[in-house]
Amino acid sequence: MSVWTRIACAEDVPMLEGRSVHVAGHQIAVFRLPGGWAATDARCPHKGGPLQDGIVADSCVTCPLHQRRFDLRSGAQIGGPDTIEVHEIEERDGALWVRLAEGRADLEDAA
Ligand code: FES
Repeated sequence: MSVWTRIACAEDVPMLEGRSVHVAGHQIAVFRLPGGWAATDARCPHKGGPLQDGIVADSCVTCPLHQRRFDLRSGAQIGGPDTIEVHEIEERDGALWVRLAEGRADLEDAA
């Protein structure tokens, strides 16, 4: 079972930007959106592009390498078949907490 992990101060992530953090050996991308937060795997499923460095707009991130676009709430690629893993994220008293998706939690337990 996955656990909540404190990962960063909320003030360290500007609006409509992403940051990369490591959680239990996984690289996670954290994004600040006008309506809250999003957390996904940081590597693009296409060729590993750094999604935390992508352009964020309309609750989507555009990979900086080849411009594939992913919905940060569902993880679905816009107009394509790829997906990125979406993780739970919460802000508590100015700190960001992440809980890895269940598939990742298995890896965490095995680490
Ligand atoms: S690596 Fe992200 S679109 Fe190619």
